Amino acid sequence: MSKRRILVTAALPYANGPIHLGHLVEYIQTDIWVRFQRLRGHRTIYICADDTHGTAIMIRAQQEKRSEVALIAEMQQQHERDFAGFDVSFDNYGSTNSDENRELCGEFWRAIRAAGLVKERDVAQLYDVQAGTFLADRFVRGTCPNPRCGAVNQPGDNCSVCGVTYTPAELIDPRSTLSGSTPEVRSAPHLFIELEQLHDFLETWTQAGDHLQPETANYLRGHFLGDPRSEEGRKPLKDWDVSRPAPYFGFEIPDAPGNYWYVWFDAPIGYLASTLQWCKRHGEQFETWWRDADTEIHHFIGKDITYFHTLFWPGMLQAAGYTLPRKVHIHGFLTVGGEKMSKSVGTFVMAATYLEHLDPSYLRYYYASKLGPRTDDLDLNLDEFVTKVNADLVNKVVNIASRSAKFVQQTGLSAAYPDDDGLFARAAEAGQEIAAAYEATDYNKAMRLIMELADRANVYIDSQQPWVLAKQPDQVDRVRDVCTVGLNLFWQLAIYLSPVLPELARKTATLVGQEIVSWSQSQTPLKGISLNPFEHLLQRVDPKKVAQMIEDSKPTDAPAADTNAAHQDSDQPLRDEPLAETITIDEFAKVDLRVARVVNAEHVEEARKLLKLTLSLGGDERRTVFAGIKQAYQPEQLIGRLVVMVANLAPRQMKFGLSEGMVVASGPGGADVFLLGVESGAQPGQRVH
Ligand code: 2FM
Ligand code: ZN
Repeated sequence: MSKRRILVTAALPYANGPIHLGHLVEYIQTDIWVRFQRLRGHRTIYICADDTHGTAIMIRAQQEKRSEVALIAEMQQQHERDFAGFDVSFDNYGSTNSDENRELCGEFWRAIRAAGLVKERDVAQLYDVQAGTFLADRFVRGTCPNPRCGAVNQPGDNCSVCGVTYTPAELIDPRSTLSGSTPEVRSAPHLFIELEQLHDFLETWTQAGDHLQPETANYLRGHFLGDPRSEEGRKPLKDWDVSRPAPYFGFEIPDAPGNYWYVWFDAPIGYLASTLQWCKRHGEQFETWWRDADTEIHHFIGKDITYFHTLFWPGMLQAAGYTLPRKVHIHGFLTVGGEKMSKSVGTFVMAATYLEHLDPSYLRYYYASKLGPRTDDLDLNLDEFVTKVNADLVNKVVNIASRSAKFVQQTGLSAAYPDDDGLFARAAEAGQEIAAAYEATDYNKAMRLIMELADRANVYIDSQQPWVLAKQPDQVDRVRDVCTVGLNLFWQLAIYLSPVLPELARKTATLVGQEIVSWSQSQTPLKGISLNPFEHLLQRVDPKKVAQMIEDSKPTDAPAADTNAAHQDSDQPLRDEPLAETITIDEFAKVDLRVARVVNAEHVEEARKLLKLTLSLGGDERRTVFAGIKQAYQPEQLIGRLVVMVANLAPRQMKFGLSEGMVVASGPGGADVFLLGVESGAQPGQRVH
């Protein structure tokens, strides 16, 4: 088997949010592949970094009254901690806000300019005079310009009710979600990459060879490239806007002062920058990893960022003369119990919360058992999670070791490998099929094959009953032989599972006194060795802990209200929390918004975020509302004020009492929550439209 040189990346997580179970699908999927390649003896490095630039970080840093650099440093530290907690084995974890990245962006830019791909064009964008910034699409809300729709509170790029796309400048009655003010249209020059010039190259690259999964290649042909053989023919690729005017947190474009590279321009270059850091630390040649056709580059991404990695990115690499990816591996989204992850029902689980309750091996195995080579979504069903991990790992795999090890603890393994009716040899041969499944990212198949081997091993132990033999003094040799077979069958499984379960591999290595470093170790049985004391290899999953994790993932305090998405950068796909299901205008109209007067406001002593408000809706109608605005307002500031409340929200029993509605506010939370103001002439109880 010839040795390959492989560079693997997972998408760079945004610095503006914590790692959650949705992210982990990708980092675990990639880690398994990387560990598998290393085990096969290939030189493999796993590269990642935090994706740090863009409007979202800039705005959040302003709101938190600290520098962007301080903010991204803290986020990076959290991300690295969480990944380490899940045994994700990066070789280098960098940042897109690094000197290496700035340098490389300059180099890409010069090459792209030299190739004649850049052109300048004025772009009319909304500008928030109060906040002093251009507004990316997600920071604008207004009424849909489609005359047949007119849905209110729509974002600046497309309408969630009728689906039409438009520019933010076309929105009717636009409002900045940053300041609430009416933005003005300002024109500014932007720099574009003319992707259409690379059409032929991209068509060949995406359609020929197996750089992409077949469904992705088809999707790109259908949606973006078109098919010259069909009636519709070839579709021109749209120009890509890669600059943003100041203020913007990113790298200033050297030959266009006052303009910055758009975050999606510098993010993938971060793959190279992080590799460069690794090269510097290890005395490696950067060119070997990114400009040598013998190096295989594999990107692992989610399907929401397909376009960036299969059209823009190969185009950039081609223009700059770097190696194109050998393959872009695309996975689907995570659902929990068949639904989108949701903060309110507690299924939006942060990595750190999971780790407070459960062993990371469980999730690594569960995801592996569900991941195939296609881009399908993956469902985390919590009942199945418990059953599968306990049935497969605890009852099958670990059980083989615990039923064998104790009887050979004193004697060690037999000096010659006993007759086992060909069990070990057949499992060694199955290694080929298992390896092929790992290689093809068909982990589901790999896990099935491994569990079949575990079943056979258990049948063997059941039939030999070493615990019965152990009571018969004349059967000492037989017991040792049976358990030598049992432990070797377990050893093979631990090797095959080691890309998925590195902790089990480490514990197994301790038991037998040998590190697992190569797949080939599965082909030769262990003989004549003594064993170290048997330690518990894996605890059963306790369903109560799963339930507690979900409970701890629910919001502890009532939200202030329907806060807007001020953390998101409009130009970035939303990965932190998928957009909720579309609702119709009729459904929206069911929300009964009323003017209310705060007649009393008081602290809820035990709650970090809550104030208890008594609201008057006119006449005798009084409501108690617990609002998460304690860090933003003093109770005495509120008494007498007019606010807007959701009057027909079903009452909710909270720890501190019954909450009978919600007050409307916006902002990212903490001290930055702003109650919606109401003109003083308004009357309590009046409907707000
Ligand atoms: O979608 C995301 O989370 C982006 N931060 C991924 C960037 S991947 C790469 F291009 F840098
Ligand atoms: Zn519309």
